[in-house]
Amino acid sequence: MDAFQIQGGHTLSGEVIVSGAKNAALPILCACLLTDQPVTIKNVPRLRDINTCLRLLGSLGVQCFWLSENTLTLRAEQVAEPLAAYDLVKTMRASVLVLGPLVARFGEAVVSLPGGCAIGQRPVDQHIKGLQAMGAEISIEKGYIHAKSKRLKGCRIVTDMVTVTGTENLMMAACLADGVTVIENAAREPEVVDLANMLVAMGAKISGIGSDRLEITGVEKMRGVEYSVMPDRIEAGTFLCAVAACGGDIRLSNVDPKSMDATVEKLLEAGLSISAKGNSMAAKMKKRPKAVNLRTAPYPGLATDMQAQLMAVNCVAEGTSMVTETIFENRFMHVQELQRMGANITVEGNTAVIQGVARLSGATVMATDLRASAGLVIGGLTADGQTLVDRIYHLDRGYDGMELKLQALGADVKRVSQT
Ligand code: EPU
Repeated sequence: MDAFQIQGGHTLSGEVIVSGAKNAALPILCACLLTDQPVTIKNVPRLRDINTCLRLLGSLGVQCFWLSENTLTLRAEQVAEPLAAYDLVKTMRASVLVLGPLVARFGEAVVSLPGGCAIGQRPVDQHIKGLQAMGAEISIEKGYIHAKSKRLKGCRIVTDMVTVTGTENLMMAACLADGVTVIENAAREPEVVDLANMLVAMGAKISGIGSDRLEITGVEKMRGVEYSVMPDRIEAGTFLCAVAACGGDIRLSNVDPKSMDATVEKLLEAGLSISAKGNSMAAKMKKRPKAVNLRTAPYPGLATDMQAQLMAVNCVAEGTSMVTETIFENRFMHVQELQRMGANITVEGNTAVIQGVARLSGATVMATDLRASAGLVIGGLTADGQTLVDRIYHLDRGYDGMELKLQALGADVKRVSQT
């Protein structure tokens, strides 16, 4: 198992080319199931989750080839058996994104329920309820969702809460349904918008893109497309947090600054100076950050996927801050590990109170989920002495070459093998 060995205390300077967004690329790859024609996807990040998604699509009979480092071509001419097996779904919950496209195009899908998750219960009841409203017959047998429908029918769906992959699954299903589907309380995350734009390029009829009310008029057939995945706003935000915590002067290229408003606002408040021009950003930090209160919320609010990294900044900030997590019920797993590095944090329900300390101290810590790992890496970069962040496979799920990008900024980070 790999770990990151970090010698903390270096300021960061240099440039990072941000990769394509994991959470846009995953639904976009699954959307290839909606057509029998080839689909070419550019700016695909090289991640463990992308490999899992390709294994899943491959197991369904989709032909998948890398044309170059970040370009994939996929063709779902036919599907052998519309089955997403537990082994793959349990390692990546986003596998549930094949459910909508499979039942819409092939009239049938058998998809494993994802099971437990480190950050919260994360049920998929809204995906199921939405498809049922569209006329799918759904049963749960032996841990699998069995969905059947000759042709889905357009209808009005109001989701109980804002759900990102729920909106994506239902939007993909509605593209091939008979009639008009309206999704109310839809997620407005930029990744949902990216998927919607790709679906439109494939011939889908969607209005209200970027709003909480999507109207989708079903079409008989969709076509192949060439599409480029949006830049990863969470990866970009993670590097901004790293420079806010460590100090320095960095430039990010291949970013979409508009998608990062809430994170940028918090980091400006923390004292980071940020400027954006076109698809690049520059960030400078000369002093210790100031503590900032934050509360996660669906887009355009502050992303829960930035919470752990911003908390790491608060750990070394001047002053006291409150961090409230409203999306997932158990997304504070990094707190105990940050405490092991000397952070002063107390948790009360879904709020953490952080009293900033001048320096963290290096320790061996364990990553528990993807964004928690990123928070611990930032902690290690600011700490006195050596930090070992263990179980870095979580990080590899969602960050493309993070240690290489940090090394290019002057950080002392090494990937080491732990036995
Ligand atoms: N929820 C339900 N029922 C549902 C669906 C969701 O109760 O049917 C609840 C969840 O338990 C959660 C809330 O609704 O409390 C929001 O969950 P959502 O469905 O929006 O999350 P998701 O679609 O499973 C995506 C990202 C996550 C990100 C969240 C929130 C992908 C592949 N994953 O998950 O990304 O944290 O939206 O923005 O897009 C990550 O990249 O590290 C990550 C976890």
